[in-house]
Amino acid sequence: MALSPPTAQVNGDRLWHSLLEMAKIGATPGGGVGRIALTDLDRAGRDLFARWCREAGLELRVDRMGNMIARRPGADGMAAPVMTGSHLDSQPLGGRFDGAYGVLAGLEVMRALNDAGVATCAPLELVNWTDEEGVRFAAGVVASGVFAGRFDLDYGLNLPDRAGTTTMGAELARIGYAGDAPCGGYSVAAFFEAHIEQGPVLEQAGLPVGAVLGAQGQRCFAVVVTGEEGHAGTLPMRLRRDALVGATRMIDGLNRLALATDPPPVLTTGYLQVQPNSRNTVPGKATFSIDLRHPDDAMLANLAGKVETLCREAAARDGLDIKFQETSARPAIAFDPDCIEAVRRAAKRLGLGCGDVHSGAGHDACNLARATPTGMIFVPCEGGISHNEREAARPEDLAAGCQLLLEVMVERAGIA
Ligand code: HGY
Ligand code: MN
Ligand code: MN
Repeated sequence: MALSPPTAQVNGDRLWHSLLEMAKIGATPGGGVGRIALTDLDRAGRDLFARWCREAGLELRVDRMGNMIARRPGADGMAAPVMTGSHLDSQPLGGRFDGAYGVLAGLEVMRALNDAGVATCAPLELVNWTDEEGVRFAAGVVASGVFAGRFDLDYGLNLPDRAGTTTMGAELARIGYAGDAPCGGYSVAAFFEAHIEQGPVLEQAGLPVGAVLGAQGQRCFAVVVTGEEGHAGTLPMRLRRDALVGATRMIDGLNRLALATDPPPVLTTGYLQVQPNSRNTVPGKATFSIDLRHPDDAMLANLAGKVETLCREAAARDGLDIKFQETSARPAIAFDPDCIEAVRRAAKRLGLGCGDVHSGAGHDACNLARATPTGMIFVPCEGGISHNEREAARPEDLAAGCQLLLEVMVERAGIA
């Protein structure tokens, strides 16, 4: 296929500079970012994004879940918009590209179209989704879930933080991003999200971009193990009801279960809180998270049952009480075949090597896929490392993915 000149040329240097500017907000000593959702650092990132959107002439609105939607009008104002976006919030010790790349690649698409004076038929919309990571509230992607009709607005706004001291709605108000625009409720022609792969496939294949076929399913749980506080020096070992010992036996058992399962799931306990967390008091309470994922929904359901049984049986053996609660569940999803093909076709037009990949990570696109034709574009990240300060990506791959994003969006929106 003859290479066709791009509709408009993205500016890779400008994209790279924007990424580095954004990464200064919440920069961590190890070279990553810690911009946790609905903190003052998130507000600062949002404010910078808002300034850039206004400078690009985009019409910015904030919806009831704090999603920031920047609109580039099209010749046909009544047409359903073609949408892109991702998230500016990060893990506590996250990388500079997870999420921010998708938001700023979308901004670069708008900037490049402005530079080239290209008007599209359908409007374009660029979104910064609230709290994709779910570090403080539930298990993430709730705001895009409300937009896509997966959760109702009250559920989203009243979501408590992990400490149980505030809610998502209160924190949105505190940082000044409790918007009044309706959250969702209108049709979107297509949604495309650009993201780093957060896995090794593209890098090992030497490919600059990937067409994402789908994402694995995920079940998250919160487990509260209750024993009894006691004096570390006087309470004999055989009389103890040590909640932390009980929790660690469960966590070790869960890890062995995952390793013994084929095809293997991924299972992570990322969060553990001990009460009273004092050196010389036998822990009376231990709370931990379980993040379980598998590409096959039936296997995921079967594993979820085994996980709960394992925890309950361990608690009974140790004479401990247990509260086992599911905090989120998302089935495996397949992205829209036409969107996948659009990514492959545009890559060919641009002369970009493109491979099909599956996503181990969850994304806001997984929610959008329930309500609108959705596709994702992956670019490689070094060693597949992510949720880690060392996360890195090559400017040329980031620019290639951004050019591909422009192509698929303009193809879908049409040129006026
Ligand atoms: O957890 C995830 O898969 C995403 O990175 N938040
Ligand atoms: Mn992400
Ligand atoms: Mn992430």
